[in-house]
Amino acid sequence: MFITFEGIEGSGKSTLIGLVEGELLGRGEDVLQTREPGGTPAGDSVRSIFLDPAMRIDPIAEVMLLNASRAQLCVDVIRPAIRAGRTVLCDRFYDATIAYQGYGRALEIDGLLQVCLVATGGLSPDLTILLDLPAELSHERVLARARGGGHGVDRLEQESLDFHRRVRDGYLQMAQRWSSRFVVLDATQPPEVLVPQVLAAVAHVRERIRQTIP
Ligand SMILES: Nc1ncnc2c1ncn2[C@@H]1O[C@H](COP(=O)(O)OP(=O)(O)OP(=O)(O)O)[C@@H](O)[C@H]1O
Ligand SMILES: [Mg+2]
Repeated sequence: MFITFEGIEGSGKSTLIGLVEGELLGRGEDVLQTREPGGTPAGDSVRSIFLDPAMRIDPIAEVMLLNASRAQLCVDVIRPAIRAGRTVLCDRFYDATIAYQGYGRALEIDGLLQVCLVATGGLSPDLTILLDLPAELSHERVLARARGGGHGVDRLEQESLDFHRRVRDGYLQMAQRWSSRFVVLDATQPPEVLVPQVLAAVAHVRERIRQTIP
């Protein structure tokens, strides 16, 4: 099973994915956690370029960088794990490219989707958890995290409030368009409330997959 976590900066993806992984591991499940961009040595190099506040990167170049990391991640990590029957938890996947470069940077959505599916070899998530948070709260959390000694403010976090509003609204539109795999959660809730909501969504999709396998 392939599960992705999406949402604007500071929506709590990394926090939640760690907690969900812990729960699933505690049940004896075989879980693999990874992230985008990154997850492979080549992808981690892309990540450091991509997030570097000193880099000026054209939107199309952003799409190609992200999909280079994604293609390597699918081949080296995600597909082998799925083949081995593991549950894959991925912190962002191609929906983030649609949301940020499509809705955020005004690139054409369906063209982007095609490029993304070339990178993944047609692979899409079974379940996408969208952590929905107002852009103003995202901004507050990112600043608090930076003050608290977490990582500094990266290239995308430096974008305007309007940019993050477009990305948030884009994610919500995507959740409607692909409603069979998206589950939208209110990310203003505390993690201990969100974890059972994710686990319920995972159980639901597992059951659906079980029913479709003869
Ligand atoms: N449900 C929550 N309620 C309140 N604060 C939270 C919640 N989840 C995470 N946080 C806090 O918000 C900040 C951002 O969380 P986190 O790093 O998990 O977000 P993220 O979505 O992974 O962000 P990024 O996109 O930048 O990687 C952290 O300081 C974290 O402690
Ligand atoms: Mg994170």
